[in-house]
Amino acid sequence: MTPRFQAVKGTRDFFPPETERWAAADAVCREVFRAHGYGEVRTPILEHTELFARSVGETTDIVHKEMYTFPDRRGRSLTMRPENTAGVARAVIEKGVATGPMPLRLFYIGPQFRYERPQAGRFREFRQIGAELFGVPGPAGEAEILGMLFAFLRALGFVNLSVSINSVGTAETRSVFSEALRRHLAPAAGEFSEEDRRRLAENPLRLLESKDPAIRRRLEGAPTPREFLDEASRRHDVEVRQRLAEAGIPCEDQPSLVRGLDYYTRTVFEVVSRDLGAQDAILGGGRYDNLVESLGGPALPAVGFAIGEDRLLQVAPFRAPSRGFVLVLPQGTDELAAALAVADELRREAPGTSVEVDLLARGFKKGLSRASILFEEAAQRGYDRDRMFAALIGSDERAAGTVTWKSLATGEQETFARSELARRIGAGREA
Ligand code: HAM
Repeated sequence: MTPRFQAVKGTRDFFPPETERWAAADAVCREVFRAHGYGEVRTPILEHTELFARSVGETTDIVHKEMYTFPDRRGRSLTMRPENTAGVARAVIEKGVATGPMPLRLFYIGPQFRYERPQAGRFREFRQIGAELFGVPGPAGEAEILGMLFAFLRALGFVNLSVSINSVGTAETRSVFSEALRRHLAPAAGEFSEEDRRRLAENPLRLLESKDPAIRRRLEGAPTPREFLDEASRRHDVEVRQRLAEAGIPCEDQPSLVRGLDYYTRTVFEVVSRDLGAQDAILGGGRYDNLVESLGGPALPAVGFAIGEDRLLQVAPFRAPSRGFVLVLPQGTDELAAALAVADELRREAPGTSVEVDLLARGFKKGLSRASILFEEAAQRGYDRDRMFAALIGSDERAAGTVTWKSLATGEQETFARSELARRIGAGREA
């Protein structure tokens, strides 16, 4: 039967064990980022539409056709953020921190919204983990941000990733390059779709990512942004690569990389995993030295990245740390109070263990058959089989102040005093 209500296309529901894996990855992120001095920033999902037009760029695909934009009840145009860099830049200016002590190190984890055609690894609501470093104009900025990024990726178990890197120069050299690219592509425009002809006229850089064979053919031998770099950007680029090599961060030159957002200056980078579908980047980022000023703030250089967390978790070797699981089974309602007390004791003595009480007090037989189902589910969810137990409390146990402790892994059971619980669980943890 088709349910009457379904999730909106391109959005998804998550349940355990997935939510547990997400939460564990977020915890690793917070630990690594905090260890680098980054603090969490939370900005609203709703922003004024104009913010994205000004920052991401009016002629980009994101702004042109992927935003969830609507008038609010008073007719103001609002947009559900398609990315978080613009919101962070706005907040930094609005709160006055853009004129405060530098460098400023911020990170975020949260949902973003793009009206794209849903497919593998592409959703309309997706999550990004991102970081932004403000106030560092030199290559030390890229070195720190990419160093932290790789520390995180390595903590998730990745070993073979490398970052594709390029320089797009300044706003001026970018526009000279853009014009050269337009001239190179224009003679073949007759073979392009109407949409691509619009891109060619408005923002030819968008065509660099095209999959259309006619455009791909024409792109062979096309100019690259590197050829148009000014001297300072060229030096910056060389130094960035030196720093990354010194820091042991594997990177590959990608002369055609420009990225689909307009705010970048100089360094841009992406990480693509072969384990994802052909076109999909796990993350992207770069330097955006003009954005804060163009939004009405002070001249403030910045560099950052955002990881698509959905794609990241699809390919990360990372597993949530395994946990113990105990189901406390009162024989009947008379034993419920003792069972609840035992559960609380277990939660205190064995932090990290999940402890459930059979609140329906259905007796041992039903309780144990329910336990085996729960245990099986918990094992699927990555719980540690050797640390899964049923704690049985019958009238004898209640009277004697004991519990009967049954291991799921071995089926062995043993009755001991409740005062022994802490020691037993401790022993279980070491095993
Ligand atoms: P972006 O390349 O637009 O950059 O997005 C970053 C990452 O978000 C992508 O590499 C991808 O993994 C993920 N992503 C984007 N769209 C979707 C989607 N529809 N479904 C699933 N994942 C998606 C930015 O957003 C910039 N704000 C990055 C940045 C931060 N640059 C400087 N600081």
